[in-house]
Amino acid sequence: MNEKHRLVIVIGSVREGRFGPVVASWVAEQAREHGGFDVDVVDLADVEIPLALPAESPKFAGDAYPRPAAMAPLTSRLTEADAFILVTPEYNHSYPAALKAAIDWHFTQWTAKPVAFVSYGGAAGGRHAVLHLENVLTELHAVTIRDGLAFPNYFTAWQDGQPLDAAASGYAKTLLDQLAWWSGALRTAREAAPYPA
Ligand SMILES: Cc1cc2nc3c(=O)[nH]c(=O)nc-3n(C[C@H](O)[C@H](O)[C@H](O)COP(=O)(O)O)c2cc1C
Repeated sequence: MNEKHRLVIVIGSVREGRFGPVVASWVAEQAREHGGFDVDVVDLADVEIPLALPAESPKFAGDAYPRPAAMAPLTSRLTEADAFILVTPEYNHSYPAALKAAIDWHFTQWTAKPVAFVSYGGAAGGRHAVLHLENVLTELHAVTIRDGLAFPNYFTAWQDGQPLDAAASGYAKTLLDQLAWWSGALRTAREAAPYPA
């Protein structure tokens, strides 16, 4: 299959005055320049994501999982994705509740797909958030990409929508190369046989 792989970049922060969209725009620009993906940026602030989940498990309910009607566009964008980049800040040494809720409302949408991380925050650059996300995504049978991007002290490390570190684009390319490799390998595998979840 020659069609480009679909990359969904998720803005994990929905906070008023958030920095997340700045990072996500730059990541999307890097991904478009990379050329290996059709890029779709999902902003969780545009979606109402209730904290109360249905009684059933999304793992076993599959397509019958009773999500709110307004969540349907988010669900189909996640379903159509071949690969993900989660852009996350660090809140109290973890990642935002909105991102956890968006993950928990879905299951098969993540399964047997690669997920990379771009984080930002204070001294740790959001790495605590990413450690937690790696743990959670493994439970959903996703494949997490080793080479993430972390921006410590982002408030002094960015200017005019760009990171000041000239090496950042190179790190992004490595992340995108690894993500594209896994995206190809896993799409081929998903098409060849159902994943035995
Ligand atoms: C509730 C809350 C908890 C935070 N906890 C941390 C933290 O544990 N580590 C850290 O580096 N920054 C922490 N911060 C600072 C965030 O990194 C900073 O506010 C950043 O801008 C958040 O991303 P956002 O603007 O996209 O929401 C916290 C911020 C908030 C709002």
